[in-house]
Amino acid sequence: MNYFITLEGPEGSGKTIHARTLADYLRAQGYEVLLTREPGGTSIGDQIRRVLFTLDNTSMRPATEFLLFSASRAQHVDEVIRPHLDAGGVVVCDRYYDSSLAYQGYGHGLDLQYLRAITDFATGGLKPDLTLLLDLSVEDGLRRREEGGSWNRLDEYSLEFHRRVRQGYLELVAAEPERWVVIDASPSIEAVQKEIQAVVEARMSHEGTEG
Ligand code: TYD
Repeated sequence: MNYFITLEGPEGSGKTIHARTLADYLRAQGYEVLLTREPGGTSIGDQIRRVLFTLDNTSMRPATEFLLFSASRAQHVDEVIRPHLDAGGVVVCDRYYDSSLAYQGYGHGLDLQYLRAITDFATGGLKPDLTLLLDLSVEDGLRRREEGGSWNRLDEYSLEFHRRVRQGYLELVAAEPERWVVIDASPSIEAVQKEIQAVVEARMSHEGTEG
């Protein structure tokens, strides 16, 4: 059975560790799992990632940012995600187009209609089967991020920006509740991972019985 899971959430919500642990868990259940992330996931995507995140590129415009994320995504979907799904595998992806809607759309105020149209073009309309929002207050997220030491150019945006991002995610959830599950990311990594596994197992077995 193919299945496409994405993890979303603010900085410091633990998506990366949870994506990795979830992928290991699903592999142990016998699934063929591709663990990947955005921006990146391909050699071309990783080159784009460097342009996006280097602290030198302070003059980068929001539209440029969005188009670079989208370019990385187009390559990612066509080169790795879609082939893996077509071969009957499970994909666990750390961020996908909802990040662009939340950060470049709600955060920077770019027109969501354009963003959706370009996203459809970049992804060929490929939507996740399930998206987990690891929700955390903006203050807690940025604090964890600073402590974790992987600060990048986008983390420098204001607190207000990060508040709009979180609010944006919640609006995306409200608009498409059947695709999303919101997970409180404030408890321990172990407790959050347990909840993630329970949610994923329930959703995948439901899908399996539906055919
Ligand atoms: P990253 O270092 O991958 O870590 P994390 O996901 O743990 O925050 O940083 C990704 C950054 O890129 C993050 O600030 C969100 C941002 N981003 C966008 O603004 N738009 C996008 O489409 C994507 C994929 C990411």
